[in-house]
Amino acid sequence: MKLIDGKAIAAKMKEDIKRETLALKEQGVTPGLAVVIVGGDPASQTYVASKERAADSLGFYSVKKELDQGVSEEALLKLVQELNEDEKIHGILVQLPLPDHIDAKKVLNSIDIRKDVDGFHPENIGKMIIGDEAFLPCTPNGIIKMLEYEGVAIKGKHAVVLGRSNIVGKPMAALLLAEDATVTVCHSKTRNLKEITALADILVAAVGIPGYVTPDMVKEGAVVIDVGINRVEGRLVGDVDFERVKDKTSLITPVPGGVGPMTITMLMYNTIESAKRKRED
Ligand code: GUN
Repeated sequence: MKLIDGKAIAAKMKEDIKRETLALKEQGVTPGLAVVIVGGDPASQTYVASKERAADSLGFYSVKKELDQGVSEEALLKLVQELNEDEKIHGILVQLPLPDHIDAKKVLNSIDIRKDVDGFHPENIGKMIIGDEAFLPCTPNGIIKMLEYEGVAIKGKHAVVLGRSNIVGKPMAALLLAEDATVTVCHSKTRNLKEITALADILVAAVGIPGYVTPDMVKEGAVVIDVGINRVEGRLVGDVDFERVKDKTSLITPVPGGVGPMTITMLMYNTIESAKRKRED
């Protein structure tokens, strides 16, 4: 078993982004990222703070817009519109989940696709599916980068994705397919789940249930990617029962320090890509 050190891979990528940021700044362009957060959900606050820290450390222009839990949908849409029109902003991220009285789809649809660094706009998702250039969703794209970095061949492998969320499971399946994997997506209604996951050469767990993946679900020598970030008794744990599963795997990501740092880095990667495109306009 070998650990995939997401933190170290992310740090290397950030060095490259930092260099590119300096070069862009010399040409008069500072990559700008706006993060919008509605309400005080502690997990969202933590994620947003990490994103802000990363943007600052890379020398980006970074803006955080905090709105009250009770803000109207109209006011949020107006803010997105202002950010769409703001020349200094190259990337806009609206942290999810949004309060129930706000239609999240409407808000995501209102983000200028050229600034949709989360890759959540339906047009970007469509482009990703057909293989056109698009901003790719950060978590699944970060996982592909990790696998590439570790020299894991994806082509022809059986990849099993546990979970079918719009943010992780579905785009993960699309990106693995684009890399020529044979992909199976499993979810809460899947029958014979263990038999299927046990066939996986690459197993991606994104179900949001602590310790869900047990050794009997994992093939000897599999590559296991744990997307879960669950807080249990004040500790962060993944969707994989790490201690019991790790020795069956050839490669496995830890939680924390695995997928998480890559997600944030890919957001920065998308933002600088957006700034570069803008320069070329
Ligand atoms: N909430 C949980 N993960 C994410 C993410 O990657 N982007 C946004 N905008 N919200 C999230």
